Amino acid sequence: MADIKSHIVSTGHYLPEKALTNQDLEKMVDTTDEWIFQRSGIKSRHIATEDQKTSDLATAAAKEALERSGLNASDIGAIIVATTTPDQTFPAVAVRVQAALDIPPCIAFDVQAVCSGFVYALSVADNFIKAGQVKRVLVIGAEKMSSIVNWEDRTTCVLFADGAGALILEGRKEGEGIVSTHLYADGRHADILQTSGGPSMNGVSGHIEMEGREVFKHAVVCMANVVEEAIRANGFIPEDIDWLVPHQANIRIIESTAKKLNMPMDKVVVTVEGHGNTSAASIPLALHTAVADGRIKRGQLLLLEAMGGGLTWGSALIRF
Ligand code: ACO
Repeated sequence: MADIKSHIVSTGHYLPEKALTNQDLEKMVDTTDEWIFQRSGIKSRHIATEDQKTSDLATAAAKEALERSGLNASDIGAIIVATTTPDQTFPAVAVRVQAALDIPPCIAFDVQAVCSGFVYALSVADNFIKAGQVKRVLVIGAEKMSSIVNWEDRTTCVLFADGAGALILEGRKEGEGIVSTHLYADGRHADILQTSGGPSMNGVSGHIEMEGREVFKHAVVCMANVVEEAIRANGFIPEDIDWLVPHQANIRIIESTAKKLNMPMDKVVVTVEGHGNTSAASIPLALHTAVADGRIKRGQLLLLEAMGGGLTWGSALIRF
């Protein structure tokens, strides 16, 4: 089989109009702007309206990616949506996006790996392409985390937010593309970051429950290991990486990963201040932001990394 590479053709994004600032949160729970910013690096985040569904956010991001690609809806062979907050238990958000964008019958399904979901989805898409099963995949990370946040719990409600990011991958016989992906999960730690409900447990979607300090400890170690593995496995050195595009959970975790790689913060894409933690949407949102503002350029080497509930974690090394 010829060596096919999954090339990123285009990116897209969507952020709900409503911004919720730390000052707004001060009026809702016993917290301060100073506490939130110092602990997480977040100042403001976007929150969807009550009637906006995850598929609406996903569709808007996908539409932009499609427009920027110059492709037609019929060029898409698969749609993979990474989400933890689907519109419904079923069907998948991916088929809602498919219908909204008039994409003819193709592969469409969701991937659920919480904050690592986008890296997981990217890896699945890359394998579909490398196997020669499809030529182009629309990969989306979309979340309405506000729908599973307990708005009276100050330990979580100040962190999570809504949004969507998308990209289109195309199989090419030569040129740039995904170099490798590394994925992990360790279910022994499933209880430190979970929801209080689910269809087969109690029939409700539940709220986020997080042992923040424990998650933080694991995140720092997992992120450092997985980025080092990605670099080593491909014969690179940290200095070869042009941009680190991390999951945007917490500026302190991001800084610690950058430090481990000896990477100055001006080579790290940081959107957590204005986006908050949008779970599976955070990496494609950050990627789109830096592509759209011209920081990320063709030919550069990008390292994406994430860690989330499961626990799950992973990386994607990409020659953009
Ligand atoms: N405002 C003010 N005080 C607060 C708030 C708040 N919003 N929330 C908690 N506190 C208090 C606590 O009650 C505690 O008070 P106490 O000492 O009197 O008991 C104190 O602040 C310290 O709380 P900690 O939880 O120990 O604070 P920490 O420094 O660990 O920061 C945080 C908390 C920001 C959650 C941090 O632990 C963290 O970022 N963890 C990782 C989260 C993460 O990365 N998640 C990613 C995965 S998300 C996903 O997969 C969906």
